[in-house]
Amino acid sequence: MDKKALEALLNDMSTEEKVMQLVQIPGSEYEASAEITGIERGQVKDNVKKLAGSTLGIWGSKRLRKIQEQYIKEHPHHIPLMFMLDVIHGHKTVLPCPLGQGATFDPDAVKKGAEMQAQEASADGVHATFSPMADLCRDARWGRIMESTGEDKILNSRMATAMVEGYQGDDLKDSDHIAACVKHYAAYGAAEAGRDYNNTELSEHTLREHYLRAYSEAIKKDPSMVMTSFNSVNGIPATGNKFLMKKILREEFGFKGVLISDWGAVGEMINHGFAEDQRDAALKAMQAGVDIDMCSGCYSSSLEDLVNTGAVSMQMLDEAVLRVLNMKNDLGLFEDPYRGIDMDAGPVITDESRNLARETVAASLVLLENKDKTLPLRKEKYAFIGPYADNKKLQSSWAFSGDDKNTVTVWEAAKEVYEPESIKVSAGCTMLDQDTMTARGKRHVDNWEEENSKLMAEAIKAAEWADTVIMCLGEDFAQSGEATSKVSIEIPNVQLNLLKEIKKAGKKIVTLIFTGRPLELNEVRELSDALMICWLPGTEGGHGIMDILTGKVSPSGRLPVSFPYTVGQEPLHYDMYPTGRPRPENGPSAFTSSYLDCENGALYPFGYGLSYTSFEFINPKLSAQKMSDTETITASVIVRNIGDMKGSVTVQLYIRDVTSSRVRPIRELADFKKISLDPGAEEEVSFVINEEMLRFWTAEEKWESEAGKFLVWICNSSRDGQALEFRLI
Ligand code: BGC
Repeated sequence: MDKKALEALLNDMSTEEKVMQLVQIPGSEYEASAEITGIERGQVKDNVKKLAGSTLGIWGSKRLRKIQEQYIKEHPHHIPLMFMLDVIHGHKTVLPCPLGQGATFDPDAVKKGAEMQAQEASADGVHATFSPMADLCRDARWGRIMESTGEDKILNSRMATAMVEGYQGDDLKDSDHIAACVKHYAAYGAAEAGRDYNNTELSEHTLREHYLRAYSEAIKKDPSMVMTSFNSVNGIPATGNKFLMKKILREEFGFKGVLISDWGAVGEMINHGFAEDQRDAALKAMQAGVDIDMCSGCYSSSLEDLVNTGAVSMQMLDEAVLRVLNMKNDLGLFEDPYRGIDMDAGPVITDESRNLARETVAASLVLLENKDKTLPLRKEKYAFIGPYADNKKLQSSWAFSGDDKNTVTVWEAAKEVYEPESIKVSAGCTMLDQDTMTARGKRHVDNWEEENSKLMAEAIKAAEWADTVIMCLGEDFAQSGEATSKVSIEIPNVQLNLLKEIKKAGKKIVTLIFTGRPLELNEVRELSDALMICWLPGTEGGHGIMDILTGKVSPSGRLPVSFPYTVGQEPLHYDMYPTGRPRPENGPSAFTSSYLDCENGALYPFGYGLSYTSFEFINPKLSAQKMSDTETITASVIVRNIGDMKGSVTVQLYIRDVTSSRVRPIRELADFKKISLDPGAEEEVSFVINEEMLRFWTAEEKWESEAGKFLVWICNSSRDGQALEFRLI
């Protein structure tokens, strides 16, 4: 439809119809059968069901086609309904959780993954996904850290951008693609004390320099939508925050698409103490620029009256509705309301999608310890022990359209590689301590003690038989994701006890940790010869893990978040600000900025990860020692694989602005490149440094760079490398 036709359509719509384009209702309202009229099924009134512009949380080619057919027939202007879904890290083929994808440091792979998700979801009738989540997160207590790609603005920017490009492709009319939604705007990841939905207090410079960066970069790729966040930012709920949405998002970032609230967030402004009632909440959300009200009911109950009484102007309403109609038009829904739907098969998991998932898993695994080259495994007898050894729940709490049945467990993959007489499996213990609270409620196991002593006895036997034990431990999948904040971030006690008991068998121990958040791993690492983070790896988890364990692929994942010594260090991030009393390198000393009982930095820092091969960084250098704001400097290094195995390495560029009008972090990631090298091979890796990369929110409240000295590291993690120096003149 051309612009004129769209405007004509808008002009022909009644106020009620217009308002309803801004109303999103749960898919369950359409679920019981595909008939819309007649029976009242949930909270939503019939006229809302008939006219609501979009719905969420349902998928399925036949099901959505039927709903769409009925809806269009009933709608006065036959405007199609838009189907949205949280396709977060997979629809049918589930990739590693976003934190795991962050660990790949490979935006190209992440983009391919998003393309695959879009294609699968579209074949199932889905038009838009609520992804990417661009929230920067520095707090392991916050369970939604699992949905983020980490603690760094540059890494998050690259990943969010790759996802938008992958989901949307070049043209949204191409039904292999779906609309993306950058969320949760803004600063949801900074929830105070890591408690979900909690308020955030952020200075403007921290907000702009760190928290807003990934959203702003992703918005440059024209995502169809942005979602508001639940939290308040400096006292004003994000969903009613004019500064964030009008000034920054629309004016500064130039976002032209649809702004949708998070689930119920418009109505939650009443609880926040920011709106008096539903009507007031609807008014404040509209005034702040929220186009679609996701499921709070405030727009459906009050917006029409707000328009009729003049509190909200018709122009304001029209602008919002036009954005929604434009999105439908961009998706090609007016021409084909059934775009993408594959009525024969629906989306299927293919060899190709499995291969992509398997490669992504292998690239996401982070090897933290490998004492005496315990890994890769050799030809020995292996016992796979732990609640994750043969567990299909590898998908995470945000992969509800994926089916556990399709997941390959570690044990299933091991059986494909080893002769049956050389391997054994044993769960060893329950996943959780008795009555542990998870996002899915309290987990109670009948006869928990008996069950655990039986499992433990079997596991000890298996360990005694084996040469090497592969311990498969971690948090339950329902302990990360939404509403899973925790003040303790260790693996469950019952699992730690199992590890201690197994250790007594005196065998080599390889510990695999399944998790959606950074954990405290002090004790685990002491008890293990090798230690690897496997995240929540998804459908091809078992295969990707075995590819690394057997040495088919060398590990190349890097931590996208700091793993602390103790939860007491949280929030924790590598790009800290300097202090007037820095902690001496060799340990704490009186009256310096240090803990009496812990390091300042992480146990395993951002950017860290081991490989089976070794890389030498030869002759890191800068092309010049001075640079004006119109010039660039090239930072380069020769990377050589000096080991005996092919491997990939992520070369990281960090910069520090040494003196400035507002203090700058001790180092900040500026760029990174992942390269792959055969044994003995070398490659020059170079990065261009320009003035734009040196800008920050100055004491004058301007986004500018300042002349002076800069340090540069071209290195292997946020904690190593030799500093080089240049001056911006
Ligand atoms: C979450 C969003 C999600 C939405 C729709 C909310 O609870 O915060 O991330 O997209 O639900 O499912």
